[in-house]
Amino acid sequence: MSTQVPSLVPGLAGIPAAESAVSFIDGQQGILEYRGHRIEVLAQRSNFEEVTWLLLHGELPTAEELTGFRAELASYRELPQGVVEMLSKLPADGHPMAALQAGYAALGMHCEGKLCARGDDIAQIIAATPSLVAAFARLRRGEEVIAPDSALDTAGNFLWMLRGEKPGEIEQHVLDTALVLHADHTMNASTFTARVVGSSEADPYTVCASAVGSLKGPLHGGANERVLAQLEGIDSPAAVKVWLDTQLHEKGKVMGFGHRVYKTKDPRATILQGLARELFEKTGTTPIYDVALALEAAVLERLGERGIYPNVDFFSGIVYQKLGIPTDIFTPIFAMSRVAGWLAHWHEQMADNRIFRPGQIFIGSHGAQYSEIDSRG
Ligand SMILES: CC(C)(COP(=O)(O)OP(=O)(O)OC[C@H]1O[C@@H](n2cnc3c(N)ncnc32)[C@H](O)[C@@H]1OP(=O)(O)O)[C@@H](O)C(=O)NCCC(=O)NCCS
Repeated sequence: MSTQVPSLVPGLAGIPAAESAVSFIDGQQGILEYRGHRIEVLAQRSNFEEVTWLLLHGELPTAEELTGFRAELASYRELPQGVVEMLSKLPADGHPMAALQAGYAALGMHCEGKLCARGDDIAQIIAATPSLVAAFARLRRGEEVIAPDSALDTAGNFLWMLRGEKPGEIEQHVLDTALVLHADHTMNASTFTARVVGSSEADPYTVCASAVGSLKGPLHGGANERVLAQLEGIDSPAAVKVWLDTQLHEKGKVMGFGHRVYKTKDPRATILQGLARELFEKTGTTPIYDVALALEAAVLERLGERGIYPNVDFFSGIVYQKLGIPTDIFTPIFAMSRVAGWLAHWHEQMADNRIFRPGQIFIGSHGAQYSEIDSRG
């Protein structure tokens, strides 16, 4: 038997952690597919509810299935009163991702096999996510929670529940497309978290609460918030080069650039950039868009050779800001969409589950001597 110790791969880069049929990325060519469908086609012709069904079931829904699914989601949008009360007691200056994490845990306590046990935890969680985000965003400002409107889809309802005004067509379309783009992305950190937590047979509310914690970090979903702060910190397109030199000299990361898998421009960034343009044509441009274009060109010149290109987070914040969404709600919007992917992966994991229990390379010592507390150094 071989005694060779496997070497450590930091971040498990390139190491398969599961077999999955949910999505596919070709990082060299910039290809993303959900269940075999190219993201460009889905962004143009589909919608978030249809894509969610596709990820969960493996096939596009029939008209009847989609109508039924939309109705099911609509029936689960209203939050249990106990969950709203819990959200209202959280610190108003706390991060909405922490509120979402708490919200999922509370929802599970109220719903799993209990008060709202109508059988589908998956539909409950997906439908309740925008409601949790919008409810906390209002409660922290001392405003009333707005009841969902069953005539609106996920994107439209979210804007309605957040702002208390019926959204315009272009706003709904832009947010719906952004939700399509973020719904799944192979074995990223939060999806891996979902699979690991699910593998212990934890319930799906706990799975999603854990995945939200992973998505919150600035190297993952939290980057979109940071991108906007970064762009707002650069005075003008003319100031970009000096800013970038300083950033790279100080070994800082440029937020919204780089990806573990993509070594070319993330296809979702290209689509989001198109959406930003579409939105600006209708509602006027924003000065940070010009800064963003100058930054993309400067990074390409300095880091393009190393495969560091814009990722999905680079243009999403610009779009959300234009929709009047507060900066700290950007990552929760990512979660509103990615929850579909988490649950599709959870389903897949549970269909052939073995609890995750990787090995380690022990670098500690043996034979340590216990000393009494008064004689320690
Ligand atoms: C996404 C990310 C975490 C991928 O990480 P990774 O695959 O582990 O790659 P690393 O962080 O090890 O980067 C490899 C090299 O490229 C550099 N690099 C990667 N992304 C960079 C960025 N955005 N800005 C500057 N340098 C970057 C690293 O400094 C590192 O350089 P080194 O080899 O000299 O140490 C990383 O690109 C990053 O931190 N990007 C910024 C945050 C972000 O936008 N996240 C959203 C991801 S969708």
